[in-house]
Amino acid sequence: MKVTAARFVGAAAAPGQEPPPGPPEIALAGRSNVGKSSLLNQLVGRRALARTSGTPGRTRQLNFFLVNDRFLLVDLPGYGFAVGPEAERLTWGPLVETYLGERPTLRGVAVIVDVRRGVEGEEEDLLAWLAEARLPGALVATKLDKLGRGEQARALRALHDAAGGELPVIGFSARTGDGRDALWRVFSGWLAGPPRAPARRRAPRSAAR
Ligand code: GTP
Ligand code: MG
Repeated sequence: MKVTAARFVGAAAAPGQEPPPGPPEIALAGRSNVGKSSLLNQLVGRRALARTSGTPGRTRQLNFFLVNDRFLLVDLPGYGFAVGPEAERLTWGPLVETYLGERPTLRGVAVIVDVRRGVEGEEEDLLAWLAEARLPGALVATKLDKLGRGEQARALRALHDAAGGELPVIGFSARTGDGRDALWRVFSGWLAGPPRAPARRRAPRSAAR
């Protein structure tokens, strides 16, 4: 994918604040501090379009970026930060859950993990949810540059096993650009694919009349 333009077009700190649905969207999801915003910057070739930080919990809202005037990349807040010890489940809060559940223009979700950490409970929950919602997903193992070649291969094999052959698995590094082309190929396929099926739970029309 040749990125000729990328710009911030809106944010949502609460459900309902999202920009009106328009172009197709791809969401970047994952644990806090895993490297979602850095991945977005690497994809669009801009160093600081999305804000990054060494401190977990940097991205607190949904941030929408329009790419090539054609589609949106959505940088989500991370999970697994400032949640209690019982929060093994996906406890992302209504903001992200509503967005993932109901956004009509969402075409796919990249589930980003640290290659050194792999898939844990939250990611299993998220991947199962995506399958049930029939939303395309991919497993992206970032910070590949932190491992040597042999360790990279071993970690990626384990991720392929975790994905059960159902999902694309892509090794990525925001530092070196490894995996960038492969991830764009997956995203291009989603963007060329059909829109998602309408949400199952909708406000009954008759109630609004
Ligand atoms: P939140 O918004 O807080 O959830 O974090 P995030 O997932 O957006 O992570 P962010 O992109 O802010 O990166 C977190 C830290 O990891 C920063 O210090 C980045 O420089 C570092 N980082 C991200 N990706 C990579 C990578 O591929 N390689 C290396 N070595 N460091 C990375
Ligand atoms: Mg972020």
